[in-house]
Amino acid sequence: MADLTHIRVEWDGEIAVVSIDRQDKLNALNAEVVTELGEVFRSLHDDEDVRGVILTGAGEKAFVAGADIGELAKMDSLSGVRVSRDGQEVFSYIERFPKPVLAAVGGYALGGGCELALACHMRVASANARFGLPEVGLGIIPGYGGTIRLSRLIGLGRAIELTLTGDMVDAERAERIGLISAVYPRESLLDDAKTFLRKITKNGPVAMRMALESIYRAVDTAMPDALDFESSLFGLLASTDDMKEGMAAFIEKRKADFKGR
Ligand code: COA
Repeated sequence: MADLTHIRVEWDGEIAVVSIDRQDKLNALNAEVVTELGEVFRSLHDDEDVRGVILTGAGEKAFVAGADIGELAKMDSLSGVRVSRDGQEVFSYIERFPKPVLAAVGGYALGGGCELALACHMRVASANARFGLPEVGLGIIPGYGGTIRLSRLIGLGRAIELTLTGDMVDAERAERIGLISAVYPRESLLDDAKTFLRKITKNGPVAMRMALESIYRAVDTAMPDALDFESSLFGLLASTDDMKEGMAAFIEKRKADFKGR
């Protein structure tokens, strides 16, 4: 992995913990952070020892407090499109990542930070977490996929409300409206996130990859084509060692030892 200025990566067994660490700016996403995020996820992509990723923010106050407003303030129309596209590209890469990605939100997830959490496959948060899309208060709109992903996750009505008011949502409401899966105490957030993810990483890696592919394909595809795609992946999995192992383990009443093949 190339030298990183604003991102730290730590490994705990099969889980890689990626922390955005720009604490003096509440981990705000400048161009360098976005580029480094892309590099980190590309390098974890082919690392067979990694079976799941936790994305989090360093420090006590923020996951990510948004795109860097100092940088955004300097943009013109052309660079604005580029800023948006660069972020979208990295966020889409995370969304299409072949291993489960869990956002562990321990504080502010605002603007681009909320959009980043939305691009992860799942989200958990601490009780002090705050989610929001305050962009309209700055005279812009969410530009990293937030106008698309939020409504897909929580429905049009609430997504429109949150996007147009710019209001912050606390962890309790975020869980109630389906924005996050669980709320944990701040001090144990990372440990609890690992426990959450380990319920997932014990499953067959190839099956999980294909489940994610099928789920995301269905978001953009008409039902008949999505069903065809699901059947193809289902059939493909029948040829994997993981399927043989998973079923043998059940029959032999033991834990499966998946190799990801
Ligand atoms: N971009 C650039 N810098 C940011 C930032 C952002 N999105 N969010 C916070 N910062 C910086 C602040 O400017 C401040 O820097 P300074 O110490 O050099 O002045 C530092 O991070 C700490 O933030 P501060 O505002 O002092 O903390 P706070 O606890 O009083 O408030 C927030 C926290 C999150 C409510 C507030 O920082 C905020 O509203 N941030 C912007 C959120 C936003 O609009 N995001 C969407 C951007 S598109």
